[in-house]
Amino acid sequence: MVDKLETLRWVGNEEGHLVLIDQTKLPVELREIECRRIEDVWEAIKSLRIRGAPAIGIAAAYGICVGLQAKPLIVQKDFLDRVHDVAGYLATSRPTAVNLFWALDRMKKTARKLATEALPERWFADLLEEARAIHDEDRAMCHAIGSFGAELLHHEQGVLTHCNAGGLATSEYGTALSVFFTAQDQGKLLHVFVDETRPLLQGSRLTAWELTQRGIKTTLICDSMAAQVMREQRVQAVVTGADRIAANGDTANKIGTYGLAVLAKAHDIPFYVAAPTNTFDMAITNGKEIPIEVRAAEEVTHGFNCQTAPDEVNVYNPAFDVTPASLIHSIITEKGVVNPVSIDAIRSLLTS
Ligand code: MRU
Repeated sequence: MVDKLETLRWVGNEEGHLVLIDQTKLPVELREIECRRIEDVWEAIKSLRIRGAPAIGIAAAYGICVGLQAKPLIVQKDFLDRVHDVAGYLATSRPTAVNLFWALDRMKKTARKLATEALPERWFADLLEEARAIHDEDRAMCHAIGSFGAELLHHEQGVLTHCNAGGLATSEYGTALSVFFTAQDQGKLLHVFVDETRPLLQGSRLTAWELTQRGIKTTLICDSMAAQVMREQRVQAVVTGADRIAANGDTANKIGTYGLAVLAKAHDIPFYVAAPTNTFDMAITNGKEIPIEVRAAEEVTHGFNCQTAPDEVNVYNPAFDVTPASLIHSIITEKGVVNPVSIDAIRSLLTS
């Protein structure tokens, strides 16, 4: 049993570095890796050593600091150019989770402010403070999401989740899993069904690991079993995370989420999305505009070093899909619950 899960952390002060759990090794091995070069941070995000929308954003914020360490910061223009270049490079790692771009924009904005208002010797330390603030705020948001979400669940209920929206995908407590952890803290016993989540198995490798670590009753299923589980009335709610939510509530999340929402509707089961408000992208009107990451064919044909398809076959491997707002019962955020899901309700939550 792991006492406290630290998905990622900054070690030391200005000469320090980023340390993160290499999630590709779980559940067999709990191993940390050090990121001392900007290329290490980019590679860790790209290859899903660190993954999950909020965790990617936090890693990118610290990544700006890693990228600035190589040379001293003295001249204002050089400082801003370097922040801009490092942010631009990290932005190419993964396209779908808006939290990455949100965190990079926040770091750039802070750098612009520091460049005019602070002495050069403060620039790096204050940017590191900003990254730490993003990290700390995520902790608080996850706990608030859990409190709002746990109210929607009942003692001895069956729930289904997809991919991993737990501590590993955030600072420590998760979004969808925070709802389950908080319900458990309140004494509600849940039975959580976990989709395996092909092709990279974030459900079986990460979510099942987190839930069993916490002693929550957990049953793993293949993705294709969800319909049968619903038909047998084993689950009374579905809760997932989100990677980007458009202004109208259309939600991108791990591939397979849309199918689950369709199934939930067909079985009259509420489908909840749990996400911090920095997952909303109000610059886009609907889900059609969300960029969907397409990943390597080998993830499907050679998952975990075992060939499972013939050499010549064509493969399509979108990593995310978009669930229309009409299929989402509520969006659970740190500011409250959006229900019904509409552009007006989302706007009013974000401005509250
Ligand atoms: O490809 P991944 O593992 O980064 O995908 C993660 C998900 O789809 C999560 O559900 C989402 O980021 C929400 S995490 C709180």
